[in-house]
Amino acid sequence: MKRKLLSAILCASMVAASLAGCGSTAAKEEATVENEATPAGDAADDTADDSASDGKLVVGFAQIGQESGWRDAETMSIQTYAEEHADTVELKFADAQQKQENQIKAIKSFIEQDVDVIGLAPVVETGWDQVFAEAQDAGIPIILLDRTADVDESLYATFIGSDFIEEGKLAAQNMAELIGGKGKIVELEGTVGASAATDRKTGFDEEIAANYPDIEIVASQTGDFTRAQGKEVMESFLKSNPDIVGVYAHNDDMALGAIEAIKEAGLKPGEDIKTVSVDGVKGIFEAMVAGEANCTVECNPLLGPLFFETAAKLKAGESVEKWVKSVDGVFTSDIAADVIDDRAY
Ligand code: AHR
Repeated sequence: MKRKLLSAILCASMVAASLAGCGSTAAKEEATVENEATPAGDAADDTADDSASDGKLVVGFAQIGQESGWRDAETMSIQTYAEEHADTVELKFADAQQKQENQIKAIKSFIEQDVDVIGLAPVVETGWDQVFAEAQDAGIPIILLDRTADVDESLYATFIGSDFIEEGKLAAQNMAELIGGKGKIVELEGTVGASAATDRKTGFDEEIAANYPDIEIVASQTGDFTRAQGKEVMESFLKSNPDIVGVYAHNDDMALGAIEAIKEAGLKPGEDIKTVSVDGVKGIFEAMVAGEANCTVECNPLLGPLFFETAAKLKAGESVEKWVKSVDGVFTSDIAADVIDDRAY
């Protein structure tokens, strides 16, 4: 029974706070603090039975953190699904606060608790082999959600998410159109080592190099997917490159930060400096409607239902595709006003 007690403590600290608040800032902060105080790896125990789940699908999810509006939307999608299906689903949710070591601790804790399926949005691509092998040895399938991990395919069941290289290509094509195929541009990269950053850079840079010889990427630096760092890095870009005509940001939050920096520099975002970013969050639609942003390549964060449906299939021993690819669109400022009210995140 010791395990039940510790499981309850873990739920109280890592899960219930998140589920109860379901997206509210206060609840997220509470969950974050508790995760820190109760590292997932310390909280687990394996000395008792698993009857507390009552036949429910028990899923552990190791989230990256709260770096962007997109991430908040993904968390909300997962937690809302669990809340609405509480009779059949139990979610153990960990917020890793951007640290891989916290995600690894959470996975180890989920293994100790013998969950049915583990979900992970890997903060970075590398460094997962050992803990994935531990999950495999315990017979627990891993679902990679939204970001990929650089491991042998046999170590995870499936990846659910977008094609980040394609997103980068689409961003490059739209940037080229916006600036008439020529000019100096800058690039705000996501978290170093994250598949979303690496692949969006690859797709964009390769497309520019292959098809647009008169476009020059004069600076490229990480803004860690946050609005604050997007602004900070853009400020320094503007100082050393006063003649740029475009900024490509690996996510909308960094683009929104860059827009602030452009305005503070006395320039007009959306006109003097064109913007293309990725995600499709409400804030970038508002900026497009205001004429301060030009284009966003959508990346769907509302993956909760598909995640749990896939987990249920895995628990039932059914086969799933290795990559369940999201279908995403591209939105430009000329249609932003028509679609903004329909945006779900
Ligand atoms: O992995 C998806 C990316 O992570 C989103 O584009 C970004 O906003 C988030 O932080």
